[in-house]
Amino acid sequence: MSNPTSAPSRNPVIELDEVRKTYRSGTIEFEALRGVDVTIDEGEYVAVVGPSGSGKSTLMNLLGCLDTPTSGAYRLAGEDVSTMSETELAEVRNRRIGFVFQQFHLLPSKSAWRNVELPLVYAGVPRAERRDRARAALTRVGLEERLDNRPGELSGGQQQRVAVARALVTEPSLILADEPTGNLDSSSSADVMTLLDELHDAGRTIVLITHDLEVAERAQRNVVIRDGRITDDVATGAGLDVAGGAR
Ligand SMILES: Nc1ncnc2c1ncn2[C@@H]1O[C@H](COP(=O)(O)OP(=O)(O)O)[C@@H](O)[C@H]1O
Ligand SMILES: [Mg+2]
Repeated sequence: MSNPTSAPSRNPVIELDEVRKTYRSGTIEFEALRGVDVTIDEGEYVAVVGPSGSGKSTLMNLLGCLDTPTSGAYRLAGEDVSTMSETELAEVRNRRIGFVFQQFHLLPSKSAWRNVELPLVYAGVPRAERRDRARAALTRVGLEERLDNRPGELSGGQQQRVAVARALVTEPSLILADEPTGNLDSSSSADVMTLLDELHDAGRTIVLITHDLEVAERAQRNVVIRDGRITDDVATGAGLDVAGGAR
């Protein structure tokens, strides 16, 4: 890893440089991302918005190191991840990224704390420390009374908070949330959005993918994607209070 010789004014977590993604099936090619350039700094709360088919999921898969670009560069916390192998990507995902998905993706047979400790199991953290950290993360999301409950014994909103705790437990560089309120009623959605606000206030870097403009308004910055290109990149009203024209 390289270190800058002088102190930088920004500390980028995400740097995408001319990123393109082409899907191929047989002889048919489709370019889902057509030259995406974006930098997201530590502590930013960014919503990526765009209509269905615009390339949001494709971008999310690249940002989450679940896939690699066809061309262009992606640096995550200064590390070039665009040419990594599957194994290397899996290690970076575990170390750098906390995921929150629309469908929660919790293991139904495991208790809340067992679900939350799982990324630490993969990271090789000793058992006693895993339990402490899982408990702390669940306390952070207001579920200290629910450590031993399985997902089926929790409401949708509570399950998503378990997923947020799991995303936090590794202290990731980036929290990546894909339509995190897509399966929640309005009251649970509000809870989860408040939780994301709090995590942002605590200095977390959050990228939220959504087609819901009301949800996107909660972020500090909106990146608009259409037909595989960024067409707009704006500070939101809510963000102006906090960012004070930093952009
Ligand atoms: N595996 C794939 N093979 C071929 N085309 C794909 C594939 N995945 C997505 N696409 C196409 O790429 C475009 C962007 O898709 P996607 O990233 O899923 O958009 P969004 O999440 O914004 O709805 C769409 O036109 C979609 O049909
Ligand atoms: Mg999608």
